[in-house]
Amino acid sequence: MDSFKGNNRLLICCTLVFVFSTAGWVTVDRAVAAEDTVSCTECHEDKQNAKFVHYPAAEGECTVCHEPEPVHLEEGGPGGMKTDRTASACYQCHDNRAAGSTVHTALEMEGECIQCHNPHGSSVEKFLVKPLNNLCQECHDPVPAEAASGSQHLPVTDDKGCLNCHDPHSSNQAALLTSSPKTLCLGCHDREITTQEGDEIESVKNIKEKLDMPNVHEPASEDDGCLTCHAPHGSQYKKLLTASFPEKNYYKSGTDTDKNIFELCFTCHDEAMLNKDISAADTGFRNDTVQNGTVVRNNLHRFHVVNVVEGRNCNICHDPHGASQPHILNSKWTMKTYEPTLLFESRPDGGECLKSCHRPKHYQRLD
Ligand code: HEC
Ligand code: HEC
Ligand code: HEC
Ligand code: HEC
Ligand code: HEC
Ligand code: HEC
Ligand code: HEC
Ligand code: HEC
Ligand code: HEC
Ligand code: HEC
Repeated sequence: MDSFKGNNRLLICCTLVFVFSTAGWVTVDRAVAAEDTVSCTECHEDKQNAKFVHYPAAEGECTVCHEPEPVHLEEGGPGGMKTDRTASACYQCHDNRAAGSTVHTALEMEGECIQCHNPHGSSVEKFLVKPLNNLCQECHDPVPAEAASGSQHLPVTDDKGCLNCHDPHSSNQAALLTSSPKTLCLGCHDREITTQEGDEIESVKNIKEKLDMPNVHEPASEDDGCLTCHAPHGSQYKKLLTASFPEKNYYKSGTDTDKNIFELCFTCHDEAMLNKDISAADTGFRNDTVQNGTVVRNNLHRFHVVNVVEGRNCNICHDPHGASQPHILNSKWTMKTYEPTLLFESRPDGGECLKSCHRPKHYQRLD
């Protein structure tokens, strides 16, 4: 709450009232001010009629923002009236709204506060000149999510809309965010979220739970990590992703050109991990054997992901956020009717899948 609630408010009510005299503007006591009030609203009663009326307008303290000349009061307007349309009029009573390290450019534009607030009152709470998302849309058109064809993020268009994540005035975070990106995202994604549209019920996993796992994917643990893989408003890809990634556990595969559907992962990882001919550096998920005196490497990433008609998506084995087993390997994943288990054991020279889609198998690296 603003500081005027204390001492300043008293000051406003008792002394900060101006009234006209032949010599100019002087401060007078409350009794004279009351008469002045009546004279404004006699001709301008509509300024007190809104559903939500701003305190100084309700109190008839019109002259905190307006300076009339006598001709206006005697003969009426237009003319003979000075109006302070800047933020300094507001700062007589309110704390500075541009105090954060990032200030909304709107506050620096002509009209400042009154672009969004009606100084007298309005039919919208906080005296907004328009309902929230229309207000933001006025200058941010289209609203970011509307431009997205692949997925949209519900909080952008719900009742609280942009204010779910942004401060309309200023903030100490980039992009006017109300907190650091990770804290912001986990503020809602610390539980499973279920939504219903018609008959379709969709549920979105609890991500906080994944980040509490023993093995967290490095980018997901960083403060703005969520934003390297997700677009906050909407995206041309599913799940608000910033680059392509298969939507399902299995995808039609069989050719090398399919690699580009994992573009998301390969913005950071080397796509050589899916190649037929690999060096020891390309992937650790391989089985090496000696044939005719030379080491032959069987690329198990390629085997699972590319070399089959129904390619397995990375997230069958790895969770992009965090998981219980080494190499961020899932311990189970969900299919339509059952939940296969994955039990992995690391070995110095490879690993073993004790439980998975097949009987136990191990792989070994020779160098
Ligand atoms: C005798 C009637 C009358 C009184 C008293 C009066 N006004 Fe006006 N005012 C008018 C008329 C008429 C207009 C022109 C039509 C309109 O804009 O509503 C006007 C216009 C205005 C305008 C917009 C035009 C401009 O010149 O900026 C403001 C602001 C305004 N009045 C403020 C006030 C304030 C504040 C008071 C009290 C200190 C006041 N008026 C008292 C009749 C009056
Ligand atoms: C917090 C500051 C503030 C207070 C208090 C205030 N006004 Fe205003 N008023 C403004 C500003 C700023 C404008 C100019 C709006 C614009 O240009 O869009 C304005 C515009 C007006 C106008 C002309 C435009 C219109 O909206 O009709 C009238 C008339 C008016 N005020 C009357 C009043 C009266 C009467 C009171 C007291 C009951 C009052 N105002 C209290 C800031 C204030
Ligand atoms: C004369 C002192 C004064 C001036 C000048 C003033 N305000 Fe206010 N404003 C108040 C008071 C008092 C409240 C009521 C605070 C409350 O009840 O929380 C208020 C409430 C508000 C609220 C709603 C706050 C809430 O939490 O519901 C907004 C928004 C607002 N003012 C914006 C403005 C803007 C924009 C200006 C400048 C155009 C301005 N005010 C100028 C005294 C003033
Ligand atoms: C881009 C539009 C926009 C501009 C410009 C703007 N505001 Fe606001 N303001 C809002 C919105 C939206 C809310 C509602 C916030 C909420 O409900 O949490 C708000 C809320 C407020 C509140 C009440 C809640 C709070 O933050 O204490 C005050 C007071 C206020 N604004 C004052 C101002 C002042 C003073 C200025 C000019 C320096 C200003 N605003 C400029 C959009 C704006
Ligand atoms: C009067 C015009 C106007 C209105 C209304 C407006 N904005 Fe802005 N906003 C701007 C301008 C200009 C910029 C700076 C240029 C840009 O990034 O597009 C900006 C930038 C932003 C930014 C990026 C800030 C940064 O530093 O990266 C955010 C976030 C934002 N606005 C949110 C909002 C929200 C939320 C609302 C509604 C409460 C809103 N805006 C209403 C004009 C406006
Ligand atoms: C779920 C949280 C969330 C909601 C809701 C949200 N934003 Fe954002 N917005 C962000 C984040 C996070 C960023 C920073 C993006 C970045 O840095 O890559 C951002 C950035 C922005 C920017 C800066 C330019 C850009 O697109 O990167 C603007 C402008 C903006 N948002 C406007 C809005 C408007 C207008 C609304 C309401 C229609 C809105 N946002 C709703 C989270 C949100
Ligand atoms: C105010 C609450 C809220 C905040 C803050 C929030 N989300 Fe969401 N998010 C939701 C809800 C509700 C859904 C489910 C509805 C939907 O799909 O949009 C969702 C869904 C998602 C989805 C799945 C989208 C899909 O198409 O299935 C992703 C990904 C996501 N959020 C990421 C983020 C990221 C990243 C952030 C931080 C920038 C964030 N969320 C912040 C409420 C929130
Ligand atoms: C390395 C990329 C990456 C990072 C970093 C990342 N995500 Fe994701 N996220 C994904 C992928 C890929 C999916 C879709 C596949 C899946 O869920 O397995 C996804 C799905 C989601 C979903 C939807 C889950 C569902 O059940 O539909 C939410 C919510 C989400 N992420 C939130 C976040 C949040 C919050 C952060 C930051 C803490 C974050 N993500 C960081 C890649 C990432
Ligand atoms: C923003 C960059 C970035 C993106 C995008 C990214 N990763 Fe990572 N990933 C890293 C970093 C950094 C590490 C930790 C260092 C390392 O092991 O390479 C890592 C580690 C991993 C590991 C663990 C390696 C180990 O042996 O412990 C796996 C598995 C992994 N990522 C899978 C994925 C998958 C699947 C995707 C796509 C959904 C993806 N990554 C997208 C940056 C990224
Ligand atoms: C069948 C399960 C499975 C699938 C599907 C899978 N991985 Fe792996 N991945 C593993 C195993 C097991 C390891 C650990 C290898 C080791 O022993 O070091 C691994 C290791 C990794 C590493 C660490 C570096 C390396 O190559 O050893 C990255 C990065 C990685 N995977 C990314 C991906 C990406 C991206 C995809 C999808 C294109 C994917 N994985 C698909 C099982 C899988």
